[in-house]
Amino acid sequence: MNPQQLNLDFFAKLLRQRTGLNISDNEQEKACHILENRLRELRFNSTESYYQFLNEGSVKAEQEWQTLVELLTILESFFLRDKGQIKILKEQILPDLIQRNRSSRRLKIWSAGCSTGEEPYSLALLIQKLIPDYHNWDILILGSDINTKALAKAESGLYSKWSLRDVEADVLSHFTPAEKGLFALDPAIKNRVNFRQLNLLQAPFPDYQINEIDLILCRNVFIYFTPQAITQVIEKFTHTLKAGGYLITGHGELYQQNLQGLKSHVFVESVVYQKHHDEIFEIIDIPEQPELPSLTLTETLQPSTLEATGTSSQATPVNTDLSPEEHYAKSIQSAENKILDLLDFDANYELAKSYANSGQYPIAEKHLQAAMNINSLNGKPYYLLSQVKELQNDREQAKELLQKVIYLTHDFIPAYLDLAVLHQQQGETQKAAKMRANALHLLKKRPADEYLEDCEAKVSDIIRHLS
Ligand SMILES: C[S@@+](CC[C@H](N)C(=O)[O-])C[C@H]1O[C@@H](n2cnc3c(N)ncnc32)[C@H](O)[C@@H]1O
Repeated sequence: MNPQQLNLDFFAKLLRQRTGLNISDNEQEKACHILENRLRELRFNSTESYYQFLNEGSVKAEQEWQTLVELLTILESFFLRDKGQIKILKEQILPDLIQRNRSSRRLKIWSAGCSTGEEPYSLALLIQKLIPDYHNWDILILGSDINTKALAKAESGLYSKWSLRDVEADVLSHFTPAEKGLFALDPAIKNRVNFRQLNLLQAPFPDYQINEIDLILCRNVFIYFTPQAITQVIEKFTHTLKAGGYLITGHGELYQQNLQGLKSHVFVESVVYQKHHDEIFEIIDIPEQPELPSLTLTETLQPSTLEATGTSSQATPVNTDLSPEEHYAKSIQSAENKILDLLDFDANYELAKSYANSGQYPIAEKHLQAAMNINSLNGKPYYLLSQVKELQNDREQAKELLQKVIYLTHDFIPAYLDLAVLHQQQGETQKAAKMRANALHLLKKRPADEYLEDCEAKVSDIIRHLS
């Protein structure tokens, strides 16, 4: 075995145990480079001594773990990231929590894996809009991350334009220009957020501070985790949430996870998880079996649609009985239907041909049906569909379709010939002969017509039968 590979396997295992991070196959080379560089920079003369150092649990080793996580993951974050989820937070989740906690006036929000702080500060900005008497409330907004350097940046409250790339003017009004081209967050907002270093996999929580949480945001963190590590953290999150509290992750990050104790609320914009509560009451007003609205990606992602008009539509709750996978499948289906609506006759027909050629008959049929809906008098899609049906051994349907083709385009010779073959196969010899005679008649009438090439193979078939 390649010695570098052997070492990487050891490190990868240790990394999984300590941080939950997974080194995927295509990241192995990058991970090897990172480890080699660290060995060189820290002047370890063997991989074993570096490995032992990482394992020793000293303060320096902990710092080294943070550096490794930083090198192996992306710290990228920005204000009000993911407009769709922000919309759900603003219109559904936070108003619901505020309503429920109105008598206690307590609210606990945790941004787990907050990187440089844009996420918890975004929450603070939302909260201050939604709770005008903020000062009368006892509110914890906590940001945590494994990386202390990222947290130090978060605590500074200083951000580049890049972190503010997706925000509206009213959010920018909470920043003032600072040194080095940075922007300083208004101290009134900054002081509402607490930060804490915490390794999600290793830290035991709930704890003295992280308990009875109303809302956990853990977005774009699990993308690097092994499924086992995600399971462990989700279990701890579930214990940490208050009954009825919410969890929001990045899209699809809990795919195929067993979410015991959590209920999925499927919105068009995102899935939101909620800890079960004993009382049976619905937090969100979910309509009975609604039609899943199509994924309006542009509407969801374009900043202008939310704030600019000031008349943003309500985040749309969808069917809670659907699992996230079912939701995604339905969303894809819905988006596909929308795309279908945008295609013209020719595009549908060309796509149908490609799908039929590659054996994807149901998709081909869908495009053919769409083409027929656009122009029901053109014989081409009927003819192609007859071939698709034939390939699927549905001869009756194929025959019916060929008759339609002949009705629409009475001089389309291949349709007569195909019908002849189908009749012949079913022992309807007279009908078959009639079709061949029709084809021959048309051929004689139009010897050089446009279908001649298509008919070539079939002509020999006719001649064989007639002779
Ligand atoms: C891409 S950032 C996500 C920032 C923010 N949540 C967002 O969506 O914009 C991922 C963060 O997860 C942190 N992270 C990775 N592994 C972690 C662990 N085991 N415990 C805590 N944080 C971790 C990284 O340090 C990084 O800051």
